[in-house]
Amino acid sequence: TEIASRTAAIVQELKGLEGPLLPILHGIQEEFGHVPQDALPVIAEALNISKAEVHGVVTFYHDYRSHPAGRHVLKLCQAEACQSMGSDAIAAKLKQLLGIGFHETARDGSVTLEPVYCLGLCACAPSAMLDGEVIGRLDDEKLDEIAAGVRS
Ligand code: FES
Repeated sequence: TEIASRTAAIVQELKGLEGPLLPILHGIQEEFGHVPQDALPVIAEALNISKAEVHGVVTFYHDYRSHPAGRHVLKLCQAEACQSMGSDAIAAKLKQLLGIGFHETARDGSVTLEPVYCLGLCACAPSAMLDGEVIGRLDDEKLDEIAAGVRS
């Protein structure tokens, strides 16, 4: 398949590194936006490990996605400073507004919700990042705006 051959090229380029699995997964996610199922056997064979091991690493590190992301990616900070400013309640409200949990994508493909651990914006906690842009001091009003924005 097309995925297999593009994966093979990335594997070929990086497999000489020490500890090549994470860089390879990183490269594949950059290429495809996620780590497709079809890439797993190619990686496993090249590194001489089992497909289950590769799959285990993909699911263990939440930075890797096993499925394509939505049109928007919303990352909500769940680290300490944001926690102390109510990020739990923010997360609960956001999940309700979007109808999805962390690591899920809305069924219409509009948005993927992911936790992130510190955006370097602790002074403006609670914070989030929408499509690469940071948003600080989240409150109900901003959440409503974000939810409406990703849907439109
Ligand atoms: Fe959330 Fe630092 S803890 S931005």
